[in-house]
Amino acid sequence: MRVLVVGGGGREHALVWKIAQSPGVTEIYCAPGNPGIARLASCVPINANDVAGLIGFARQAAIDLTVVGLEAPLVAGIGDAFQEAGLPIFGPSRAAARLEGSKVFAKEVMLRAGIPTAHHATFTAAGAALAYLEAHPGPVVVKADGLAAGKGVVVAEDPATAQDAVRDMFSGRFGAAGARVVIEERLEGEEVSILALCDGETLLPLLPSQDHKRVGEGDTGPNTGGMGAYAPVPFYTPAIAGQVEEAILRPVIQAMAAAGHPYRGVLYAGLMLTREGPKVLEFNCRFGDPETQPLVLLLKSDLVELMLATVRGELAGKEVEWYPGAAAGVVLAAGGYPGPYRKGEPIIGLEEVPAGVEVFHAGTALADNRVVTAGGRVLCVTARGEDLPAALARVYAGIRGIHFPGMHYRRDIGRRALPAR
Ligand code: AMP
Ligand code: GLY
Repeated sequence: MRVLVVGGGGREHALVWKIAQSPGVTEIYCAPGNPGIARLASCVPINANDVAGLIGFARQAAIDLTVVGLEAPLVAGIGDAFQEAGLPIFGPSRAAARLEGSKVFAKEVMLRAGIPTAHHATFTAAGAALAYLEAHPGPVVVKADGLAAGKGVVVAEDPATAQDAVRDMFSGRFGAAGARVVIEERLEGEEVSILALCDGETLLPLLPSQDHKRVGEGDTGPNTGGMGAYAPVPFYTPAIAGQVEEAILRPVIQAMAAAGHPYRGVLYAGLMLTREGPKVLEFNCRFGDPETQPLVLLLKSDLVELMLATVRGELAGKEVEWYPGAAAGVVLAAGGYPGPYRKGEPIIGLEEVPAGVEVFHAGTALADNRVVTAGGRVLCVTARGEDLPAALARVYAGIRGIHFPGMHYRRDIGRRALPAR
């Protein structure tokens, strides 16, 4: 069995790490991959958005399953293109990926299906949006409709920030992704990421995980792509899980199927556990980054078998097996991230990581045979333990030997799930 993974970040390294353990897999390719992935897979220099190039490669290399890690090619239609070419692909169609590709579309689906989410209004021009802000002085979140590489959501701390966000999004900076803007009420509560495999009809939720979006400890500072994650989430109780399945996951899957766009792949529901119950912040059409890093360490089942069942519409009756305990991943970020940051800094200590600690590469590259930084999120140091404190102790011990100039990370990953002292 020959597998191609599309992408080159920490999530894709984690997916490749797990796929490499599947007994049926003989060959793994990754496009474009990164130096960490290159130790487990053959990296091929094809851009993740080059759909024609990827189809050509998949044909030539007789790929049996292609797994898409990131959202942009899915929203652009890589799922449909592979299907038309007769190539099995794990990832939703373009129409189904609109759940992530258009926040306006996702809101419409939720509204029609009665799925709990923040109240919102949609705007196509700055004037009306600013007038709305004037009339609704409460705390809001301003979102560009389309994909904006993680920069399209502003949780406004004050009215001036909300106004600036509206002007910025309508400035043309985001192109078509900013043609429409959603303003929604700001929800309060704990955030949880629920990823579920869906074969169009059947849903198989994975363990709950929690990301840490803000750059600073104590959840301060600007939002990032995610500074660390752990799983499972102790306060995501079976009762809440039941509510989420009944009121959120099943209705959205049914709505997509009824509209003729069955959802096949992994559906990521970003939830806020509010006092009124769980509400949807957003849907993503792919695995979370960095949530996937701790999740693959906990996953006992064969991931490739689950992905094939998803692609073939055979999830009914399947179960996911997990190792006991907990896992956590902490992101080591470049100096300045999430603002402008330097690249090309040499990374030391990658060879002396303690056993049981996985260092997933995100923004790294090779320069003169040395691993150097090449992105904002550089590495995700990940480990499993008998419980969350044990997992975290392993992760932070693993970080001790790793260094690059400007490196920073949060020392409080997972703290919200630890018993109060
Ligand atoms: P997204 O890029 O859509 O994942 O949103 C980024 C982050 O913004 C989320 O993970 C939340 O932390 C925050 N966020 C989005 N919508 C809301 C909301 N309605 N209320 C509070 N926080 C939100
Ligand atoms: N961790 C957030 C995301 O993958 O969108």
